[in-house]
Amino acid sequence: MYTPTPTEHEAQLADSRLSPLHLRIRPSGRTDRERLDQCFRTLSPESSRLRFFATKRALSDKELDFFSGADGGEHIALAAIRLDDQGQELEALGFVRCVRLAPGGPCAEFSITVLDAQQGQGLGTALAEALMQAAQVAGIRQLCFEVLADNMAMRKLARRMGGTPRRMEDGTLEFDCALTPAPAPTPPPEAVAAAPTPASTPPPCNPGWVLPWFADPHDLVEAWFHGIDQTLGLAQRAQTGLLRWWGIPIPVEYTP
Ligand SMILES: CC(C)(COP(=O)(O)OP(=O)(O)OC[C@H]1O[C@@H](n2cnc3c(N)ncnc32)[C@H](O)[C@@H]1OP(=O)(O)O)[C@@H](O)C(=O)NCCC(=O)NCCS
Repeated sequence: MYTPTPTEHEAQLADSRLSPLHLRIRPSGRTDRERLDQCFRTLSPESSRLRFFATKRALSDKELDFFSGADGGEHIALAAIRLDDQGQELEALGFVRCVRLAPGGPCAEFSITVLDAQQGQGLGTALAEALMQAAQVAGIRQLCFEVLADNMAMRKLARRMGGTPRRMEDGTLEFDCALTPAPAPTPPPEAVAAAPTPASTPPPCNPGWVLPWFADPHDLVEAWFHGIDQTLGLAQRAQTGLLRWWGIPIPVEYTP
């Protein structure tokens, strides 16, 4: 029986529910063009809808060029490949990737696909964990992605990745997942003495509201103003009643 030499990512899978399946999670590039084509042609219409927000029967040539063009820096992609008993690579079972929003920037857009037959067995989690690790090492600080509201598997996976959801106007959920910077190797003491002042933290991807939708202060502030409005209305009505009772003419601005 073939036992694959554990690479970084295979070692992770040893703890997962997939350990009996021989597979390898490794960087994906030009050589995976055909596997990508096959994987997305095999995908069910439902999985395709959840991935692309529209049913897509196959990737176009342009999309295949892009998806197979990861460079490990701006665009990081990993593939989960099934292995035969001799350790030879067979078909792809899933892909995960992230693409920086700006060249060299700290934020990247994340996406993931697992073949229907392999879903629900831990492969999505293993791919996401491996990608997060690779992204951290490449200096990416935040992953963001949009998820359809009925995509329960991806919502659970996003939570597991530490994602914070924000509800968008069109009903989709946007997740931001912060990545802790990879620990820097310990420098020799002489390098520490000569070290320049550390660079400042990069700005967040979304400089606007980044709070989860359920804690959006907009709703709280609105409720607060509504409360004040009601209290003022009550006070005005009480004052008007008193003036009437005393027989004092009521100023126009007090009239409710
Ligand atoms: C989303 C996707 C990548 C998850 O891959 P996977 O291999 O099924 O993921 P896992 O087996 O690691 O499961 C991840 C979580 O989803 C849950 N899950 C899996 N399938 C599920 C389903 N059909 N319904 C509800 N939850 C499901 C698992 O229980 C697990 O939750 P847990 O962490 O609380 O145990 C996969 O379903 C997929 O490719 N879907 C179609 C494409 C897509 O939606 N891509 C994301 C677009 S942003």
